[in-house]
Formats: sequence, C-alpha cells, structure tokens
Amino acid sequence: MSETLENLLQETRRFEPPTALADAANVTAAAYDEAAEDRLAFWARQAGRLDWAKEWDEILDWSNPPFAKWFVGGQLNVAYNCLDRHVAAGRGDRVAIHWEGEPGDTRTITYAELHRLTGQAANALTDLGVVAGDRVAIYLPMVPEAAVAMLACARIGATHSVVFGGFSVDALSSRIADASAKVVITADGGYRRGKPSALKPTVDEAVAKSPTIEHVLVVRRTGQDVAWTDKDLWWHETVETASDQHVAQPFDAEQPLFILYTSGTTAKPKGILHTSGGYLTQAAYTHHAVFDLKPETDVYWCTADIGWVTGHSYIVYGPLANGATQIMYEGTPDTPSKARFWEIVDRYKVTILYTAPTLIRTMMKWGDDIPAGFDLSSLRVLGSVGEPINPEAWMWYRENIGRGRAPIVDTWWQTETGAIMISPLPGVTATKPGSAMGPLPGIAADVVDDQGRSVPDGGGGYLVLREPWPSMLRTIWGDDARFVETYWSRFEGMYFAGDGAKKDSDGHLWLLGRVDDVMLVSGHNISTTEVESALVSHPSVAEAAVVGATDPTTGQAIVAFTIPRGSVDTSGDAGEALIQELRNHVAKTLGPIAKPRQIMLVPELPKTRSGKIMRRLLRDVAENRSLGDVTTLQDSAVMDLISSGMQSGK
Ligand code: WT7
Repeated sequence: MSETLENLLQETRRFEPPTALADAANVTAAAYDEAAEDRLAFWARQAGRLDWAKEWDEILDWSNPPFAKWFVGGQLNVAYNCLDRHVAAGRGDRVAIHWEGEPGDTRTITYAELHRLTGQAANALTDLGVVAGDRVAIYLPMVPEAAVAMLACARIGATHSVVFGGFSVDALSSRIADASAKVVITADGGYRRGKPSALKPTVDEAVAKSPTIEHVLVVRRTGQDVAWTDKDLWWHETVETASDQHVAQPFDAEQPLFILYTSGTTAKPKGILHTSGGYLTQAAYTHHAVFDLKPETDVYWCTADIGWVTGHSYIVYGPLANGATQIMYEGTPDTPSKARFWEIVDRYKVTILYTAPTLIRTMMKWGDDIPAGFDLSSLRVLGSVGEPINPEAWMWYRENIGRGRAPIVDTWWQTETGAIMISPLPGVTATKPGSAMGPLPGIAADVVDDQGRSVPDGGGGYLVLREPWPSMLRTIWGDDARFVETYWSRFEGMYFAGDGAKKDSDGHLWLLGRVDDVMLVSGHNISTTEVESALVSHPSVAEAAVVGATDPTTGQAIVAFTIPRGSVDTSGDAGEALIQELRNHVAKTLGPIAKPRQIMLVPELPKTRSGKIMRRLLRDVAENRSLGDVTTLQDSAVMDLISSGMQSGK
C-alpha cells in the first residue's frame, strides 16, 4: 500500500468548526495535551464521569499483555450508571427514548420509566435463575425492550449476547452454543418494510438445537400467531408483572458485560468480549466528546441496529450513561416513504445524527429533493461510521443534510475497540472530506509498514494501536489463543486492526478498508476504496463497489460494479458511453494503472445486514464462478438482480 495513488491525499477542502459550537464545545484542544502528558491519568479522569461504588486501586494492569485490566479493584453497576443516578439526581422526568415504530406508533420513555422497566426485567431474570456471570441471548427487533433487556442483564451482572434480528437459525444457534446461553429474549416479530416479520419461528428452531437454553422470554410486538413450547414465557406476563423495586449490586470493573460476535469474512464468528468499567468509561467519554452532547437540550439519533456494536455503545451505554434524550427507530429508511429519516429529524428536531456511509449514499441516490423538503435546521453535528466515507458522499451529507453548517465527524472504530478511536472533534478539528483525521485524546493509533515501522507523513500501510485503551476487547470468548493470534501477532506489541490506512502530508489519517480488500495490479497496490471514491466523484454515479479479479496479464484486474444515479440514461449506447467515460474518469483521477478493466452498471449492490459491501460475492461474479455463501446478505434477491440487470463493458 505504499504505492502512491495520491488522489485522496490531494484533497484540499477544509471545514473549520462553526465558531458558536467551538466556543461552547464540551471538549477543546487542551484534551489532546492533557492526554499526551499522562494518558492513564487522563482516562482515570474520564472514569470519574461515572459513579463507582468502590474506587479502583490501579488504572491499568498491563503486566500480562495483551490481556488488559482497567480500573483494577474498582466496582460499579453499569445499569445504575445509565439509570438510577439520573433518577436520583432529579432527572427522572427527562425523556430517555422517543421510540418510533415503523408503522408510525410511538412510545415516549422517561429515565424514571426505563429505570422501572429495567428493575422489573432484572427481577424476572433473577426469578428465572439467571445469576451474575450467566449468558443471556437477545434476539429482538428495534423495540425499547431490547435496551431494557441489555440493561437488566448488566444490572444483575449477567453477560448479554445480542444477535441481530435478521440472522438465521444457524447463526443464532451457533452463537447460543458458543456462549452457552441459558435464556433467550425475543419477540413474536418486528415491522420491516411495511409488514410484520416473524422472529419466533427462527428462535424455536434454534432453541430446539440448543440444550443450554432453559427459558425463552417473548415480547409481543406484532401480535402474529406463534407456536408455543414449555420453555416459552410472555414478557408481558413475566416481566411486566414483576416488582420494579430492584437494588443494583456493584460488580468488579472487569465483570463481563457483553459478548458480540463479529461476522468475519471467512472463519467461525469471533465472540468479542467486553467488560464493564473501562468499556463504559470510553463509551460515555467518546459520546460526550465526539458528539458534543448537551443532555439538557440535544435530541440525539443513532440509526444503527442494537444488534451491532454501534447500537450497544451509541444507543444503549454511551448515551444513557450521559443522560441523553434519543430517538430509537424500528424500521427501514424507505418505509412508508424515502423521506422517513428526514420526517423524523424534522418532527423531533433532532440535533445530532449518527449514521452510516451506505445509508448516505443510498439517500444520495434517491435524490437531493427528498431531504430538501424538510426543515433540518435543528441538526448541529453529523456522524458517520462503518466504512470509509467517500469525499463525494461526505460533501453530499454536509450540504444536503447539514446544510453547509453542521460539522461531520467520521468515526473509525470496530466491534473489538468497543468505542470510537479515531475521529475529528466537532468543536476543534478543521475537517477534510473523507478523512477520519486523527486519534482521539488518550488513543495511540499509527500507520506502519510490513515490518511494523511507523510510516512517515505521506506514507501508507497498516493501521495499528500502540497502547491499550479502556474499552478494548478483553479476549475472544473461550479462545485466548485466537485473540492473541488474530490481533497481537502480526506486529510485536501492537494491536493489528486489519485495516489499511494512509497518512497525508499533515499526518491526518485516511482509512482504506480491510487489508484483504487491497488489489495487486501489475505490482501496484490499489485500494478498492480509492477506486470507489473516484467512481462516486463522477456526477452520474450513486454507488460503486470494486473488486480485484484474477487476470492472466496483470495478476489482478480492477472490476467495478456501479449504480448510476436515478436520472441517468443507461439504455443501449448511452450505457456503453457512460462506461467508457467512467473508465477514463478513474484513469484521470487516479492514474492509468487504476483504470478498471471492466465496469458493470447494476441496479443494486450486495450488502451485509450491517451495510458492508460483500466484495467476495462480486469477485465470484467477476470471475464467473458460482456464488459462495449468501446467508449473511441483507437481501438475497440482490444477486439475481445484479446478474440479470447487468450491463457490462470492457
Ligand atoms: C470495520 C469494523 C464500528 C462500528 C461499526 C463497524 C470499518 C468502521 C470506519 C470509518 C473507515 C471504517 C473498518 C473497521 N470502519 N468505521 N469511519 N472509516 N472504515 O464495526 O463491524 O466491527 O467493523 O469497519 O474496516 O475495521 P465492525
């Protein structure tokens, strides 16, 4: 990746923080100096934002790397920090969650009510025999009970394992087995794309294969018919009839809080283990710093699903620890119309929006006139997460959603890091479209070459983390050896993130996607992200996915799958002309070496349910192979659509 494809690094646009935001920002440039002076003392001060039942004896125990212990000897209750302390401080009437069901039904839940519901759920789980250290699987749609279930586990020291509600029987049962979960919390179904979508049948099949499961708690959401077994209990008959009086016991700072499985591209999913004190410290601090949250006045909305780490850290733990008022939305962005998101922003006067590049590009494709029809003037900070955001999508987000005023924070992190690691600070950083800029205060990120040597400004290589951080994964559940092997063996003494990155001439960071997604064309390393960004910078292109396909002459050749913008004519000769124009456009932007061998105009791209492009499947198409495993695809029909609707040019 040290090859010099300089396009991204030639970005000269800069966006200074708005003065009013900078003047009142939660975090100023001084934080970087404070953290640089004494990183551990800095994190200890951030831990002080939480209520501890017992103060720690040691900030970090790194005597047995890579196994870290943070805030050793300290004790706290995570749910107490998210709920009780706000209620005790007289903030019980503040809205915690404005919940918006897909069909348009709503619920408004205050901190006091969330506290009562969580107390009831904690009592019910205890009655079912769940004790501290037990694992509970959660397989729910985006309903408030998902947050309640997670907090109830935290409250009694049980470890939750949330499995995304779109996953299959096999995905669910293998995760239950890996964690030896005792209870599953699920629902009859949830609303998706305008109709009820069943969950219980998947759970029934998975539980039939899962001898460790003793009870299944079922939330009634859609009212659809469900089969019933003697392990099943209705949530409304069990939880909602339990006492809401529950005293939260403190647990050790290193008490396991949750396991979350990363999908991984190939092998068996990894159960990423997070613990309590350090995790909550960094989730809360980053939410406060990166989004500049003012809990009394902001209305925050993270559009992720609770089944992903973004939902864990930035719907449940970070925002609730900070006493935020937030939106939780059940459904899809195009139900009942493509204006759904902007209608919600307008109606609730959302001030902070946190979403993903895949959604931003989809909105771009749907057209500027959709958001233009709404009052989005309440928005003051915009966040992005999940993949590199192309400069073009970044500019679209800034202009059409932020109306040229709201700063964008492009936040890099992973399931494994637990919380945001690299990001601008909205009141401090002059941003560049497409760059995540630099590590947050207290975080030591770097880019190294093959040999693990730090690359100079202008160089590229592998993203690493040089020092432990509070919300780091503690291990892979049940597999310490794989934890060491996957993350800590590539480079001595450093955490290997698996992402490629570049430093520009100012030392700012540009994330280039997973290193497996780097192509080798005639001896040149070219990142798929760079070619995709070049394609998306053409006015006729809405979205692009690029893969390297085996090629007899060049080793790998660049093959691009491109979705044209809605208004673009692609019939017959016009399509062929567009393809040639795009190939030349990439050659002009990045250099002739990056000219795609082939560009296909397609109606859709295959994505995982978390919105990541499944390049593996596109490689199968590009290399004329039959398709591999499609079970994690968001929409399995999309591959047929691509194969049949493909217009291809060489
Ligand atoms: C991978 C982690 C972190 C929550 C959602 C994803 C990619 C994430 C960015 C960003 C470029 C990004 C990386 C990373 N990624 N955020 N701002 N810029 N790439 O969690 O499923 O664990 O995926 O997502 O490749 O390694 P995840």
